Amino acid sequence: MRTGRLLAWYRKGARDLPWRRTRDPYSIWVSEVMLQQTQIATVIPYYRRWLKRFPTVRALARAPMDDVLKAWEGLGYYARARNLHKAARLLKKLPRTAEEWRAVTGVGAYTAAAIASIAHGERVAVFDGNVRRVLSRFEARDVTEAPPPRGKPGDWNQALMELGQRVCTPRAPRCGECPIRSDCKARASGEPERWPLKKAKKEVPHKEVAVGVIWKGGRFYVQRRAEEGLLGGLWEFPGGKREKGETFEQCLRREIREETGFRVDAGPFLVTVRHRYSHFSVELHTYHCFWRRGKAADPSSARASEGKRWVTPDEAGALAMPTANRRILDALRAAGRPPAPAF
Ligand code: ADE
Repeated sequence: MRTGRLLAWYRKGARDLPWRRTRDPYSIWVSEVMLQQTQIATVIPYYRRWLKRFPTVRALARAPMDDVLKAWEGLGYYARARNLHKAARLLKKLPRTAEEWRAVTGVGAYTAAAIASIAHGERVAVFDGNVRRVLSRFEARDVTEAPPPRGKPGDWNQALMELGQRVCTPRAPRCGECPIRSDCKARASGEPERWPLKKAKKEVPHKEVAVGVIWKGGRFYVQRRAEEGLLGGLWEFPGGKREKGETFEQCLRREIREETGFRVDAGPFLVTVRHRYSHFSVELHTYHCFWRRGKAADPSSARASEGKRWVTPDEAGALAMPTANRRILDALRAAGRPPAPAF
């Protein structure tokens, strides 16, 4: 793409939004959080009032929660305000990189990339439905995220947002006003609305799960899921969802105890498997397990019964498993059993 044209268009013609007059990371953070679920026109007066009321992170940190919620009143999705307040109190120093920003409560990939590129000039892409549409049309194919060109990544990202919001709209794009129309393949095709071909995937809840491979001799433990419900009747490794404040190791110990009665500790890490279902995504952090010493630690007490089995990797291969569990089994077969004395 001839990047100069897009940037020139943005610098000359972009809307004069109040957060575009600053490089102050705190102000930009506030603006991006407000813009997460709210339209620009609604955000503007809130943004101005907020910065008068809480001009710095310290001012925000010192403010009582009631004042913070009051300043947010009417903007909706109040967890955003609570998270801003909580983060302001926790952070000694504001992050710089997108990766660091992601660790802040209430900041996802898009917001982190927006702040890091706009406030700190990091070459990291923002990628939402708007940007995806603009770039996919330009190439006349479905594109994935790519870093901004050298130069001003914050301007680049905002230029793409702006183009998607005002010109390259989902329906009836205003190609005549587009600064990059002469190189746009979708426009040349005569059907600019055709792209992107695939609908943008919806954001879905994300679960983090600890999973254990519990060995007894050359076999490990699998259990069958209840017939009713998601993935009913399929076989899986035991484990469960991590609770707030828990490490994966702690979670694993608790879950295995609750689910099977076995007393085990997390041993060597095996693999993290990521999988997306239609309405949520999961990450399975999988560890080999140690039997804990002491009573109830004797693996011989752990008998097979209906819906519980000790299997070899080959036997497991014959069972019906959910895809994510199948991938754990693949990793297990590739890695083999970890060395004693773990088992
Ligand atoms: N939506 C989210 N962030 C934005 C920004 N910086 N400018 C315009 N629209 C946005």
